[in-house]
Amino acid sequence: MPREVLHYLQLSDGLTVLDGTVGAAGHSSKIVEKIGSAGRLFGFDRDPMMLQFAREKLPEDNVTLFHSSYTNAQELLAEAGVEGVDRVLLDLGLSSDQLSDRERGFGFDAGGPLDMRFDTSRGQTAAELLQTSDQAKIAQILTDFGEEKFARQIADEVCRRKSTNRITTTQDLEDCIRSAIPRGAAGSRNPATRAFQALRIAVNDELKHVQDMMNSVLPSILKPDGIAVILTFHSLEDRIVKSAFKGQQQWQPLTKTPIEATPAEIRLNPRSRSAKLRAATRKHP
Ligand SMILES: C[S@@+](CC[C@H](N)C(=O)[O-])C[C@H]1O[C@@H](n2cnc3c(N)ncnc32)[C@H](O)[C@@H]1O
Repeated sequence: MPREVLHYLQLSDGLTVLDGTVGAAGHSSKIVEKIGSAGRLFGFDRDPMMLQFAREKLPEDNVTLFHSSYTNAQELLAEAGVEGVDRVLLDLGLSSDQLSDRERGFGFDAGGPLDMRFDTSRGQTAAELLQTSDQAKIAQILTDFGEEKFARQIADEVCRRKSTNRITTTQDLEDCIRSAIPRGAAGSRNPATRAFQALRIAVNDELKHVQDMMNSVLPSILKPDGIAVILTFHSLEDRIVKSAFKGQQQWQPLTKTPIEATPAEIRLNPRSRSAKLRAATRKHP
């Protein structure tokens, strides 16, 4: 939703902008054009591969990129001598480059090792998480983050298989899911969609990052009258953003209800069907 993002960001010459999920710099390259050489852009990404794409696309001197979660923005901006920013953009979730890279293990279509970490330099992979979790924990992840009706059956099947063979590839996991879900109950989407998404959220502790950002980091880095634009792709993320903007005296919402992708955009990019954009201005204390 690039048009909507730019509309709500209300960019102008000389602004300081933080893109917390810079990815392949699709949004950031437009932001840099709008803020001109007098502006500054700070971009964050947990994924070194995405940061490399961003570096190639954003050679400008007024761009600073950090291999870090946006939750570290307050410390990193302070180290750079920046007290606050005028705009913050978060475009949460996963990029299509990550999804289609078979080595990353995000998509069942791509095949490859069951990794799913945004930050490939640290942390437990999805295969390691499954290997070290019991049936109850796996079922909980699938229920909480994927609202998977057959969470218990899938968790049983994962534990049954891993007692003889390790589950190391996306294909291994997809096989478990297909054999655990009763025939005819899968619906029109690949039955693995929800489970893969749930596991990715757990591997990267994504909701904790969103919560920390919305409740403590964002209010500490955004200047009064500054604007935050947040794009989510999961109902649990949207719930966190909605309650952060509603529940505090410090926000003036710019979107009464979330903005969604148009039918034309959904036709071009089917993943945008679950996108929700919320924007708010930070009030003076
Ligand atoms: C949907 S993509 C962003 C695409 C980007 N807006 C563009 O225009 O190319 C989301 C990006 O956020 C990154 N990401 C996810 N969680 C993050 C976090 N807590 N901190 C920083 N980056 C994160 C992912 O690695 C991914 O590159």
